[in-house]
Amino acid sequence: MTVIAMWCRHCDDDIIGIGKNIPWNVPSDAKHFLDVVKEQTIVCGRLTYESFPNRTIEGCQIYVLSSDVAYELSNPAYHALISSQKELADFEGDLYIAGGASVYSLFMTGKEKLKPQIVVDCIYYGDLQKSEGEPISISDSVAVLQKNYRRISPFYCQDNVKSAIWIKKGDFVEQSVLKRIVAILEQNAELQW
Ligand SMILES: NC(=O)c1ccc[n+]([C@@H]2O[C@H](COP(=O)([O-])OP(=O)(O)OC[C@H]3O[C@@H](n4cnc5c(N)ncnc54)[C@H](OP(=O)(O)O)[C@@H]3O)[C@@H](O)[C@H]2O)c1
Repeated sequence: MTVIAMWCRHCDDDIIGIGKNIPWNVPSDAKHFLDVVKEQTIVCGRLTYESFPNRTIEGCQIYVLSSDVAYELSNPAYHALISSQKELADFEGDLYIAGGASVYSLFMTGKEKLKPQIVVDCIYYGDLQKSEGEPISISDSVAVLQKNYRRISPFYCQDNVKSAIWIKKGDFVEQSVLKRIVAILEQNAELQW
């Protein structure tokens, strides 16, 4: 089992959203996310789930975290409701942690077996768009990343976003998963060390 977290945060303040929206529009970054999670199993919080068009990502199995046991999923054949991280304790495949802030924090600091071995850290250097609601930052998860992980890739730079792959110090990492992610990030990217 490999657990992979992937996010795109704004430089300096680690903001990933304002209200329910991501306050930038970078199609190449959105495509990287969709390519990385393509046909994979993802885990997300209810608010992030509601931010996906039609509450779905085609071809993905989605675990949705919510305390509302009556929450109606858009596609129960592919999506499952979970009320705690514990329900994934016996999961054996690869899991892609897709946010939002509360879910990144839960996995970066939660049960050891479910801590991501790989983090795809994308940083957006442009201006934030105006949006309604409170800014949502992942500074706590970034602090864990900087303390417990090491960067093993160059920065893949494209359209004002710099992406890099980090792995958890001391953990074995499945090479086939890494190779697949590298192949996605390096397409059309300028590399910087
Ligand atoms: N830039 C990026 O890479 C990126 C990625 C993903 C999301 N986002 C942005 O992040 C923002 C959303 O983040 P968020 O932190 O506010 O919301 P979120 O993590 O998407 O969802 C929060 C909800 O998930 C459920 N939840 C979380 N932890 C739980 C637990 N341990 N047990 C049971 N339920 C749990 C709760 O649902 P209930 O209220 O139903 O109990 C909670 O209200 C949006 O702006 C979104 O666009 C950005």
